[in-house]
Amino acid sequence: MYKIAVIPGDGVGPEVMQEGIKVLEAAGEVANIDFEWVRYPFGAEHYLATGEILGEDALKEISGCDAIYLAAVGDPRVKPGILEQGILLKLRFYFDQYVNLRPVKLYPGIPTPLKDKKPEDINFFVVRENTEDFYVGVGARVTSPKQREELEVKRELYELKFGIDITKVRSEEIAFQIGVISREGAERVIRYAFELAKRQGMRRVTSVDKANVLTHVYSLWREVFEEVAKGYAEMETEFNYVDAITMYFLTMPEHFQVIVTPNMFGDIITDLGAQIQGGIGLAPSGNINPDGVSMFEPVHGSAPNLKGKGLANPVAQILAGALMLQELGEAEAAKLVEQAVAETLRSGVRTPDIGGSASTAQVGSAIAAKVKELAENGGD
Ligand code: IPM
Ligand code: MN
Repeated sequence: MYKIAVIPGDGVGPEVMQEGIKVLEAAGEVANIDFEWVRYPFGAEHYLATGEILGEDALKEISGCDAIYLAAVGDPRVKPGILEQGILLKLRFYFDQYVNLRPVKLYPGIPTPLKDKKPEDINFFVVRENTEDFYVGVGARVTSPKQREELEVKRELYELKFGIDITKVRSEEIAFQIGVISREGAERVIRYAFELAKRQGMRRVTSVDKANVLTHVYSLWREVFEEVAKGYAEMETEFNYVDAITMYFLTMPEHFQVIVTPNMFGDIITDLGAQIQGGIGLAPSGNINPDGVSMFEPVHGSAPNLKGKGLANPVAQILAGALMLQELGEAEAAKLVEQAVAETLRSGVRTPDIGGSASTAQVGSAIAAKVKELAENGGD
């Protein structure tokens, strides 16, 4: 029996969540797993009605759950950042979910924008650090009159001393944001990536950074990667700059097996990853604390323009459910769901974003039925 905190959220969130639960219930039925779904209303509607974003009480309660199943938050009526930071990032940080696991996998028959690339060419994991880097929220805008005065003094100094015209950087108003990498924070996620590679029988771990420019933070990241790598002599290792890896995603995705990346670069390259695997409607994600409460969600957002139309692709949500099963230790059931997704997609039951004409609910029901069918055949 697993107790799962459910946050359907905004936009298409509730629609895809319904299908995610439908498929997990089907998997539970055939694999003898019981779920208790504990629903939470957090999102735009709840915030607009009550002013509450995500309360401390709820966080404490969720601590008693086995996992969190989240769909998407974000709504045009709420200023960007409020719900994303107050719910999604809050949960990631509160539960110290330091691994953001994002598989990039092209399923058979799904069109990829990459010419001549096949399912066997696009099949790797991105392990995104999930609690540090530019997401720590350290920074400020400097705009007070006093600070402005100080800048004036500095401006004169700079001009006299160095001949630099500081007005070119619009010094009357500046903002800065600091990225933080800690040795321990880098170590634990890099180690997770190597262990994942080992478990998956993969042989190459690629580290992403921008150590040629952001020298302070990413030289530490590199150093830690090199140290951790020493414990895995059987693994091939390499460094890629983040700008370069975006090219290689397009030109040679078959090269990659496990990629480990600081938080912000991971955010960016996994949207690209989602596209090469056939679109954002297919990309799942796990926010994992191996010793705590983990959270599973699609990479995509709430897509408010699609809300209520039955057009949203539920596959990312369903695959996030498979990742959840895997993390709960239900590997068989996880495999069953993934296989059911692959076969349903191959049979052509798809939403319009990937060239089909089925609705959100039809895709969910077809996958749930396939789960049962596969289990029955497997049992013969
Ligand atoms: C993601 C999202 C989030 C992120 C946003 C919504 C805060 O883009 O999960 O990739 O930047 O991590
Ligand atoms: Mn993102």
